[in-house]
Amino acid sequence: MSTKPLRLLVLICSTRPGALGPVIGQWLIDAITPRAAELGVELVPVALADLELPFLDEEEHPSSGIYRQEHTRRWSSIVDTADGFIVVTPEYNYGMPATLKNALDYLGREWAWKPIGFVSYGNTSAGTRSVQHAKQIVTTLRLVPLGATVAIRLGDAVNDGRLRPDAARDAAGLGLLDELVRLSHALRPMRERAGAGTVAGPVPGSYARRLTPDDAPEVTVLQRCCWVEEAVVNDTLAIPALHESLEQVREWLADQHTTGVWLDGRLLGMVRTRRAGTDWHVGRLAVVPDLRGHGLGRWLLRTAEAAADPGIRRIILFTGSNSQRNINLYQSEGYELVPSTSTDGTALLTKDASADRFDAATMRAAH
Ligand SMILES: Cc1cc2nc3c(=O)[nH]c(=O)nc-3n(C[C@H](O)[C@H](O)[C@H](O)COP(=O)(O)O)c2cc1C
Repeated sequence: MSTKPLRLLVLICSTRPGALGPVIGQWLIDAITPRAAELGVELVPVALADLELPFLDEEEHPSSGIYRQEHTRRWSSIVDTADGFIVVTPEYNYGMPATLKNALDYLGREWAWKPIGFVSYGNTSAGTRSVQHAKQIVTTLRLVPLGATVAIRLGDAVNDGRLRPDAARDAAGLGLLDELVRLSHALRPMRERAGAGTVAGPVPGSYARRLTPDDAPEVTVLQRCCWVEEAVVNDTLAIPALHESLEQVREWLADQHTTGVWLDGRLLGMVRTRRAGTDWHVGRLAVVPDLRGHGLGRWLLRTAEAAADPGIRRIILFTGSNSQRNINLYQSEGYELVPSTSTDGTALLTKDASADRFDAATMRAAH
């Protein structure tokens, strides 16, 4: 699962002049910013008043993702890049303010699989009816509401338009943040699976996507685990995948196209490709030990071949000369072992890319 830092939006919902919402929002930001920094979380305050969203004015249903209005596109990109939300909301007439409902209605998949916590305020009910109302609606959008909540009774908490200091309220704010962060991490595989640029993987429920430098910790663990077996059968420790630092892995993930297969937040396998002249290099093909024999390696190999640029004449890969299991897989996929005089213990296998064109086209169409 990616280790990209979380980005949490604090949404201030009331928009009327002189509203108390910004005061409550500022208290929350002040109370939770130090903990957010400890947790490596970015807090982004967003006042709905600043978005200038009119009542929903898009022709298409939000699930289409077709947005004609600039204000919708702007709102979409703000929500899309968020990993969770804290809504600071008043209660208006026993419900959520129309501004919040309207802002929710504008979008669709941008909300999905993100946690949402509430800081409510009001008179006798401390805004809790507004939260109950909002919870019914947010679940339709696949937002996931928290159990932790902060509810502020204005009569007890506000004096001259200012919030009185209250250690219990500060603690409740921290509890809300902690739960939001835990849930946001837990939901990350759901978000990734639903995200753009992912395709279904070969194991039920799995998905594949391009790996990024934020995946370096998982990749480092996977390759150290997988190449131990290579080290044993080839009787050598001189294998780069065993030694690379996190930083080195991060660097090559930034430069070289690498596809990873994931299931429930776990990296199951990967493959890396790069072009060199008219050759297409396939490397770092790895599958977790407990899922070998399920077709993952073959699927990754075919995916790597399908990504070959037009003009590629040959696909090449290296493995340990004693890695018979790998060699068997590659030969069964049409690779030929090149007789070699190399003394570094590696075997070179090649495949005519033109013979593979039909397969590649089929795979591309499937993706
Ligand atoms: C249109 C409107 C409806 C309200 N309805 C409720 C209500 O149902 N329950 C409640 O506790 N307070 C209600 N109030 C009082 C608000 O809790 C209080 O005015 C609060 O400051 C509103 O938040 P805001 O200042 O951020 O707009 C209402 C206020 C307004 C303006």
